Amino acid sequence: MGRGRTLGIVGGGNVGQALGRLLAPEFALRIASRSRTREAAAFAGGDAETCALEDLADASDCIVIAVPDSSVAAVAFSLSEHNPRVVLQTCGALGPSDLSPLPEQGVSCATFHPLQTFPHPTAGVRALPGSAFGVCGSGEAAAWCRRLARILGGTTVHIAEERLPLYHAAAVVASNCTIGLVDAASRLMEMSGVDRAEGRRALRPLIEASMGNALTMNTEQALTGPVARGDAATVRRHLDAMRNDSGPLRELYRAFGHYLLTVAIRRGLAPEDAVALRLSLNEEP
Ligand SMILES: NC(=O)c1ccc[n+]([C@@H]2O[C@H](COP(=O)([O-])OP(=O)(O)OC[C@H]3O[C@@H](n4cnc5c(N)ncnc54)[C@H](OP(=O)(O)O)[C@@H]3O)[C@@H](O)[C@H]2O)c1
Repeated sequence: MGRGRTLGIVGGGNVGQALGRLLAPEFALRIASRSRTREAAAFAGGDAETCALEDLADASDCIVIAVPDSSVAAVAFSLSEHNPRVVLQTCGALGPSDLSPLPEQGVSCATFHPLQTFPHPTAGVRALPGSAFGVCGSGEAAAWCRRLARILGGTTVHIAEERLPLYHAAAVVASNCTIGLVDAASRLMEMSGVDRAEGRRALRPLIEASMGNALTMNTEQALTGPVARGDAATVRRHLDAMRNDSGPLRELYRAFGHYLLTVAIRRGLAPEDAVALRLSLNEEP
């Protein structure tokens, strides 16, 4: 088999399995995991084979590490004993230097972070084509990232290593915080007396339209509601109605209110309205 046709994946979890399924038609795939190696190879399909971690370097032109963030360093160390050619890893908060000692050995290393969410492998397979990939690295490893992204129908954004935590925080806000906001809105609907399932159904068109507007218009133009209107009394009423909630709902509402205030100011909110809103947001019950 010619150079560049063999790919190793370490980690048979959500990301490893999804990448395996989508890349199996293009590569001779070898998968090494801890307990789910067979399951991951079966999910990948094609000619994907299981492989021991210590044999992966010999069997692969490029290795993608897709294990929990806390295990990346240990896997990199194990691989360093077997002279891999190119090593990528999928955690967006870690850079090539976190794969030590591989870079010091001259192994070309990069971060290849799918800017997508994988609650389970099948969801990842559905969502990944067309996604962006955060890439940190250079040379052969970066070329592999571009090649894999192209095969996956995606694009790449290049991130400097010292800025990876900011890039990854952006991904977390876009993905995890969106889930948190849907959950918080559903909880408030429930507190208002609407059954949870019915509340989620009722909120869906509003959430979808807001998300669509946020992504297609300037966020300043897309913003509506009491903060955009400078309606401090309504904000106070909202916070007052949440005063008996034992969870962090009020803090979430306050923090978001303060952030939305910066958007409203950018769109021209009058300074006196901004002062009144800030007072309402900071007021204790
Ligand atoms: N999930 C997401 O939405 C997402 C999105 C972008 C990036 N990422 C990144 O992708 C990476 C993997 O995330 P994930 O969600 O796929 O995690 P996951 O579902 O928990 O899967 C991790 C896999 O790694 C295997 N593993 C753990 N330690 C290992 C070791 N020492 N040697 C070999 N295999 C080992 C696990 O073993 P078993 O074989 O026992 O299962 C498991 O299959 C993380 O760095 C994460 O930050 C995740």
